[in-house]
Amino acid sequence: MTAAREHWGSRFGFVMAAAGSAVGIGNIWRFPYTTGTNGGGAFLLIYLAIIIGFGLSVAIAEMLVGRAAQRNPVGAFRTLGGGAWPLVGYGGVLTGFVILSFYIVVAGWTLAYVGFMASGSIHTTDAGQLSQVFSGFVADPVRPILYSGVFMALTAWIVVGGIAKGIERWNKILMPALFVILLALVLRAVTLDGAAAGLGFFLKPDFSKVTAETFYAAIAQAFFSLSIGMGTLLTYGSYLSRHEHLPKATLTVAMVDTSVAVLAGLMIMPAVFAFGFDPSAGPGLTFVTLPAVFASMPLGALFGVLFFTLLAIAALTSAVSILEPMVCYFVDEHCMSRRKVVIVAALVCFALGIPASLSFGIWSGVTIGGRNWFDLMDFLANNLMLPLGGLFTALFVGWAWKKATHELSNEGSLHLPWAPVWLFVLRFLAPLGILWIMASALLA
Ligand code: PHE
Repeated sequence: MTAAREHWGSRFGFVMAAAGSAVGIGNIWRFPYTTGTNGGGAFLLIYLAIIIGFGLSVAIAEMLVGRAAQRNPVGAFRTLGGGAWPLVGYGGVLTGFVILSFYIVVAGWTLAYVGFMASGSIHTTDAGQLSQVFSGFVADPVRPILYSGVFMALTAWIVVGGIAKGIERWNKILMPALFVILLALVLRAVTLDGAAAGLGFFLKPDFSKVTAETFYAAIAQAFFSLSIGMGTLLTYGSYLSRHEHLPKATLTVAMVDTSVAVLAGLMIMPAVFAFGFDPSAGPGLTFVTLPAVFASMPLGALFGVLFFTLLAIAALTSAVSILEPMVCYFVDEHCMSRRKVVIVAALVCFALGIPASLSFGIWSGVTIGGRNWFDLMDFLANNLMLPLGGLFTALFVGWAWKKATHELSNEGSLHLPWAPVWLFVLRFLAPLGILWIMASALLA
């Protein structure tokens, strides 16, 4: 059992922390390249439909469970549901390990790129050369692993320090800064010569490219980006006081998250086309195209350093939120010291990150079911664990937990005429949508 629980200092602070969790390399790195490999504008539309159609409702549901229980994911499902429901919480704790193991690898690249930008070593618009620098670096068996270790250590250091003061304060400063830099870079990218082709690709839907896989990719991306399905929102919600207007706060977070993803697309796609890169280049997209943009703008090196610093920070605020649920679980349920849990969890995640990093180099040929370790972790987390976590959260709040709407309305004090729609989404639309999308893609 927990002692008096710490709460967020202010509503703004909470929204920034939740937005800091949502906005991460999922938006700026994963979203643009996933859009690129899934046919551009059509993917964007499906993605938005999923966020509005059920992503938002599931996010509200997950946060609500945390707020009502004021506990970690396992404890929350145990107190409110009992029976087998805590399994959903355990699944979340496990998912945290899986996600962090590959998240820290990409986050480590962003740290390295801060250095590359500062040293001016990749100040060129030559697509071939930039691709070579990237693939050479990520294939290195040592350096990227060291960077992921540094990143893991930073994450652990913040989490050891506790929640409200550290996370909240950092997010309040860093998230607005991220927004400003992003806007400046979007302005530069859309005014590049030849930007129109990229904008067309990103915004014009080409439905001939849409398959069951497109939907699957969109749901995986939506859940990953909104941090749904592994107990992050639940845990952050558990530090929220009962009086907050939870739906409004969640809506704000979803809007910030989605805007940043769209802005990242607007920043990257024009550059991809203007400099002759391939939009379906995959994970390297951000790391090879943006340096070309920086090399073509005044004070580019400075913007480059700023951008990769902010990307690293966005990754950090997300990584903290991936680590926190498991830490919260071991501290709450097993009465372990926060420091000890953090150190052990961080070491485990770092170890799991080593094969993920080597997947881009000497272990690229080592595959399980056709996927190397990195792709396998990404696939397991995003395509299976998060959607299933979201599915069971929706089922729990929709069917099993009778007090859901009562809690949502702060015990009747908020007027929420749309609450029945929300409940309908959780009962039918979200579970059936998730199952249908997963089944049609997996059986295809
Ligand atoms: N939403 C984060 C991102 O887009 C990743 C994340 C996933 C964070 C799950 C917490 C939980 O980068």
